[in-house]
Amino acid sequence: MPGRPSPSRRTVLRGAALTPVAGTALAACGPGDDEGALPTTPTAPVELGAPEEIAEGSPVLYREQHVVVSRAGDGSLKAYSAVCTHGGCAIGTLEGKKLVCVCHGSEFDATTGEVLHSPARRPLVALDVREENGRVVAGPKH
Ligand code: FES
Repeated sequence: MPGRPSPSRRTVLRGAALTPVAGTALAACGPGDDEGALPTTPTAPVELGAPEEIAEGSPVLYREQHVVVSRAGDGSLKAYSAVCTHGGCAIGTLEGKKLVCVCHGSEFDATTGEVLHSPARRPLVALDVREENGRVVAGPKH
């Protein structure tokens, strides 16, 4: 059948995000999960993976747990929530040390949590992280 191809999901979402109807725009682009549930920063310790997975200079994004972990030059680990501080989307893209939120393009340093590119203004939420029984465990700061 000739004609234009149907718009991609991203096109549809982008169009919805521009719709100036209160509440609709955020609902259309806020959650990063297809199920529509807002991602959440861990509120209790979560097990992530093996410490050997995290090499200095190569942060690891644990998408399911919404946590990014990096290793400093002294061997210590750092962890941050991978929930965007702009609108609460799950940050699903890690390019080297840069986390990219696909909702509106905010970028964060995965090793410091700092904002590299707006619209986000606040850094990522820092988490406690430790090695326990051969696994990396991250959770809220105490
Ligand atoms: S929710 Fe807007 S840039 Fe992430």
